[in-house]
Amino acid sequence: MQSFQPPRRILMGPGPSDVSPRVLSALARPTVGHLDPAFQDLMEEIKAALARLFNAPDYACVPLPAPGTAGMEGALMNLLEPGDRAVIAVNGVFGGRMVDMAGRAGAEVVRVDALWGEPVDVAAVEAALASGPAKVLAFVHAETSTGVRSDAAALCALARRHGALSIVDCVTSLGGVPVDAAAWDADVLYSGTQKCLSAPPGLSPVAFSPRALEAIAARKTPVRNWLLDVSLLMAYWGGEGGRTYHHTAPINALYGLHESLVALFEEGQ
Ligand SMILES: Cc1ncc(COP(=O)(O)O)c(C=O)c1O
Repeated sequence: MQSFQPPRRILMGPGPSDVSPRVLSALARPTVGHLDPAFQDLMEEIKAALARLFNAPDYACVPLPAPGTAGMEGALMNLLEPGDRAVIAVNGVFGGRMVDMAGRAGAEVVRVDALWGEPVDVAAVEAALASGPAKVLAFVHAETSTGVRSDAAALCALARRHGALSIVDCVTSLGGVPVDAAAWDADVLYSGTQKCLSAPPGLSPVAFSPRALEAIAARKTPVRNWLLDVSLLMAYWGGEGGRTYHHTAPINALYGLHESLVALFEEGQ
């Protein structure tokens, strides 16, 4: 067996995107322990930077230790309990994946299809929300499979009006086009590191609103996914009252995410 030398490519596809050299060199810095005081300072900086990037000042913002699909799974599994009604907009591949996941969470899924290549149909979503109380409205902000952006502000406003929690997939949009949790009054947003953040795949930045955290605290059943259970995760990432071991954080991947956020803010988000 020999060391792997990847070919040099220019990545122009829908992800992963090219990783900036400064992020690659940050990844190679010495590994410290996941409870090292220096690492804990880094965690706090990452949380603050993600809150700035999502414009989610009062939200719980952390990177989940797995790619964008983990953000999707974390959002749906934390908010949904068996029997909950979830309205899910589908205008491409990733809306379809949300439908599959919400069904596995035991939810009663109301699927609202739009033509691929078109944005989510706001009027059709409104009709679905009006047809019965839903706990969640989920949609993809920028559907990677077609390149189409949907109107997140209008869809989150609909969710508020109908008493549903909004889940916004920002895997392709975060860092590329404006994402504004506070202005949209969105509840859960998730993304990935491998697209507009120009970091390698493997982490999923998420933001949970105070309203979403309240809904999670009021669950009658435990979250079905242990790794992505936000209450357990926040006992490690939250920092208040000490950090409780939950999983061994992907230390070097977090160095990379941190460096990508430094670069992003230097460029002027
Ligand atoms: C809109 C959208 N959601 C979710 C995902 C899943 O992310 P990952 O492949 O990092 O798990 C992707 C990946 O391309 C995506 O484009």
